Amino acid sequence: MYRDKTCGELRLSDSGTRVTIAGWVQRARKMGGMTFVDVRDRYGITQVVFNNDTDAALCEKANKLGREYVVQITGTVEERTSKNNNIPTGDIEIIADSLKVLNRSDVPPFTIEDNTDGGDDLRMKYRYLDLRRPGVRSCLELRHRMAFEIRRYLDSEGFLEIETPILVKSTPEGARDFVVPSRMNPGEFYALPQSPQLFKQLLMVSGFDRYFQLAKCFRDEDLRADRQPEFTQVDCEMSFVEQEDVINMFEGLVKHIFKYVKNIDFTEPFPRMTWHDAMRLYGSDKPDIRFGMPFVELTDLVKGSGFAVMDDAELTVGICVPGCAGYTRKQTDELTEFVKRPQIGAKGLVWVKIAEDGSVKSSVGKFFTDEQIRVWAERMGASNGDLLLVMSGAAMKTRKQLCELRLEMGGRLGLRPKNVFAPLWVVDFPLFEWDDETQRYYAMHHPFTAPNPDDIPLLRTDTGKVRATAYDIVVNGTELGGGSIRIHDSELQDTMFELLGFTPEKAHEQFGFLMDAFKYGAPPHGGLALGFDRFVSMLAELDSIRDTIAFPKNNSGRDVMNESPSPIDPAQLEELNLEIRPDAK
Ligand code: AMO
Repeated sequence: MYRDKTCGELRLSDSGTRVTIAGWVQRARKMGGMTFVDVRDRYGITQVVFNNDTDAALCEKANKLGREYVVQITGTVEERTSKNNNIPTGDIEIIADSLKVLNRSDVPPFTIEDNTDGGDDLRMKYRYLDLRRPGVRSCLELRHRMAFEIRRYLDSEGFLEIETPILVKSTPEGARDFVVPSRMNPGEFYALPQSPQLFKQLLMVSGFDRYFQLAKCFRDEDLRADRQPEFTQVDCEMSFVEQEDVINMFEGLVKHIFKYVKNIDFTEPFPRMTWHDAMRLYGSDKPDIRFGMPFVELTDLVKGSGFAVMDDAELTVGICVPGCAGYTRKQTDELTEFVKRPQIGAKGLVWVKIAEDGSVKSSVGKFFTDEQIRVWAERMGASNGDLLLVMSGAAMKTRKQLCELRLEMGGRLGLRPKNVFAPLWVVDFPLFEWDDETQRYYAMHHPFTAPNPDDIPLLRTDTGKVRATAYDIVVNGTELGGGSIRIHDSELQDTMFELLGFTPEKAHEQFGFLMDAFKYGAPPHGGLALGFDRFVSMLAELDSIRDTIAFPKNNSGRDVMNESPSPIDPAQLEELNLEIRPDAK
């Protein structure tokens, strides 16, 4: 036995006992005739004391310890004279009588502390050291606990965890696939699954009724704070269900996890909002409803003033920012710069300040009288002291731009605290999305999403208006999960493919196995997938999902620790019948 106690468990009540601990040297410091060594393991930090007066040789050995040396120490637990209230073991120390160096360590490239001196790149390169930091470790502990509890919960609801393949067939819809060449089938490729979507539907055809999986998914898309090229879903599917059944089941799961991790009780049903309202009121299909400032449309009020920006705009829309009429010119200029940034791409921003005395000042005073502007203010429910921010342009684009500005203002006003959670179901998504470039409809979710039964008559006549039985669960402006009721009727599925521009041959080539399976009695079914990394990062109150993943990729999709992706051996290429074009780099 290397140890009989961990570095996190000794308390005052252990005083007088002789113990052995093992761990890493956090820091060693010499003070007069004493040497203090903080020893760290997964469970905490314990202070060890070496006394030069009682054992000079041992103390000398302790003086030679470097940071991150691996040590085994035996000694007697004693009450500390100067207690450290910041750590659970802060009441005691171990008076060492034996020290064994189990391993030496090079000087680590950064300090192994939550407030480390290591920059991002360095920490990713030495991720195994980064993972020794308590903050990062606690994220992985939370991840484990959540995974365990989700499994327990779903098991108790009769769900079976079933693994599905990682080498799958490439399909054209959705994000870009990662592909894997097949040696045994020259010139042919597998894809890594973007999700187990088709397999879970097949499992419903097989009669499994309630499936789930903590499934690894792979998508070759541009990365952001809440996106990794490989990530994990809590992927689920149920048979003989309607939208309401799926929503209730997973609302139950999400509530349970909030209670389990955060001790937060959501006693009311999560609010619901149609996709249409979400876009109209917040310019986003994942609105952050921790705060108000909903959009108010002014298009009809602003036309004909001679202000070309508004005269020509499809939409003029604004938000009322409470209490910000005192913003200086510099501050409003800053907001204008914010919306003009290339990521947002607006041409400009109109502001109106309604001073505490009710007087009005705006950036469009040349075009509108104070009375006209007061009509805007009234529609926007503004009070004295408020700041109105107004944007004009093409409808969808302008909504998205104002959405960014609303989030920015919410952030500036401290209305987006990380420890407040506002879940929301967004429902009634459109089934199709029109793409101007390719002049065709795309499935907003995937081609197996069922239309709202009430809208089936519109499929051919008013395709763009058809609503899907699809739902997203959104928390604090992040899409936590999404799902839908699937089409189980092959005739309806054929119509879907046709509307999506698939010839019957192409549809069969891509999805033939699913269409064939559906000929053998597919039950009505539907499901949902939660982004597990996002769920963990939300509850850990992080800005990014990266630290919920032990070995994540950076924003260029690289693992800087093992330097992948990397070129492969020419012999490997040869075996796979692949050639790299000389101009590929
Ligand atoms: P969807 O594509 O909406 O649905 O994915 C479900 C959830 O997975 C998370 N997610 C991601 N997390 C981290 N990095 C990524 N790159 C990433 N992409 C998605 C999100 C998202 O809400 N098969 C359907 C589910 C279904 O219909 O049942 C699907 O994959 O939190």
